[in-house]
Amino acid sequence: MGAAREPQANRRASITDDAGRRARVRTQFGVSTYEEVRPLASTASRRPQEQVVRGGSETPLLSVQGLSKDFGGLRAVNACSFSVSAGSITGLIGPNGAGKSTLFGLVSGFLVPDEGRVFLDGDDITALPPHQVFGRGLCRTFQIPREHGSLTVLENLMLVPPNQLGERFWNPVLRPGAVRRQEREIRAKAMDVLEFLTLDHLRDEYAGTLSGGQKKLLELARTLMADPRIVLLDEPAAGVNPSLMARIRENIVQLNRERGITFLLIEHDIPLVMGLCDPVIVMNQGTKLAEGPPASVRSDPRVLEAYLGGQHGVAER
Ligand SMILES: Nc1ncnc2c1ncn2[C@@H]1O[C@H](COP(=O)(O)OP(=O)(O)OP(=O)(O)O)[C@@H](O)[C@H]1O
Ligand SMILES: [Mg+2]
Repeated sequence: MGAAREPQANRRASITDDAGRRARVRTQFGVSTYEEVRPLASTASRRPQEQVVRGGSETPLLSVQGLSKDFGGLRAVNACSFSVSAGSITGLIGPNGAGKSTLFGLVSGFLVPDEGRVFLDGDDITALPPHQVFGRGLCRTFQIPREHGSLTVLENLMLVPPNQLGERFWNPVLRPGAVRRQEREIRAKAMDVLEFLTLDHLRDEYAGTLSGGQKKLLELARTLMADPRIVLLDEPAAGVNPSLMARIRENIVQLNRERGITFLLIEHDIPLVMGLCDPVIVMNQGTKLAEGPPASVRSDPRVLEAYLGGQHGVAER
């Protein structure tokens, strides 16, 4: 006699998918149904995608160690060290000229550091060329958007995936089916991204005709085409009207919570940073001045001094 069969009806289990989303699985007579369980909004549950453990300790997703960069006689970044935990929305603030954008350039491979190292997921990526850093899932946006103005919004996104079959001149002749199939897939992905960011109505507009805020969203859209693990946003809210800004904020939160994307965010809009980011890192004159939860950074006398010295009020802005 064989063992009694386990009744299949109403068996329940919990699974976690690649994006870290939990789902309840209910198996009923051999048919599985999936009910997504959205992670809660707490900081702890904002760490769905990556908890990298190497050598027994948690490795930060991004680690910057002793980075320096000189432009002629000017030290724009000076022995700067910090790390970004997987699943966080980390803020990077500081007065004008503090070295924030230069730091993004160093981390993303657009600039070569004079000193220091950058690690992604424990791997040394210092001075890798930008396309290789991008290929590893670290994507950045630019303070001044770099859209292709004479291409449509959709075309701007479809350009992003590297090594497309159609780029090799013989493939459209020798492998037309494969080229068309890949193009269809990339187009579908681009449309998904545009719908997610509610930019789909602009798909056929020339990118050069978009408003400043829409161009900022397009920058974010371009990073999403790469299935990023971490996105570095350089002033996503600068020059953006309040309603579009609320949308950008909402998109960041949603991408973080639902897709587990980690963010490092430069912003001068202090209320936005303090409401969205934890921790917050403060730079001044190329160095890291302070780091911690928004409340402690906001009341740090060194931070107040740095902003007030530059005639900015960190509390009021
Ligand atoms: N390519 C460059 N050549 C020379 N100097 C540069 C270059 N890029 C930046 N700098 C200088 O390095 C310093 C840091 O500039 P950076 O753009 O990183 O500051 P930031 O913190 O991003 O400022 P902001 O908030 O105004 O964008 C500034 O003094 C700037 O003038
Ligand atoms: Mg800048």
